[in-house]
Amino acid sequence: MALIEWNPTLELGVEQMDRQHRQLVKILNELHQAMRAGSQPRELMRVMEELILYTKYHFATEERLMAEASYPALPSHKQKHLALTAKVEEYAAEVLKGRATVSLTILQFLKDWLNRHILGTDREFAEFVKARSRAA
Ligand SMILES: [Fe+2]
Repeated sequence: MALIEWNPTLELGVEQMDRQHRQLVKILNELHQAMRAGSQPRELMRVMEELILYTKYHFATEERLMAEASYPALPSHKQKHLALTAKVEEYAAEVLKGRATVSLTILQFLKDWLNRHILGTDREFAEFVKARSRAA
């Protein structure tokens, strides 16, 4: 079973964000799958690396969309992005050194974080964008 099932509540109605969120869910599920299959550390790191790269790309996209929309909450959103990126990179470094493994605990953390990210901060931004385009 997948770690996260994509569901309509995760659709925010901003095409670019929705597409990237679907991709993040997909990579997270891949990592879960690789862990369950007992994949070699090297394979786990490959997927983890992919997750980190895509997450950074996604955050950069969001920050650009927010800057373009003069979104007032951009600084706090950026702070959250930085904190998560740092945490995941730190964790990946521990895995690389053999001091941590890709566990259900970390996957659960990432899943919860992603859900909160999409349904909380990102949804607020999506509402802001949609309200603006209605007003225009
Ligand atoms: Fe997002």
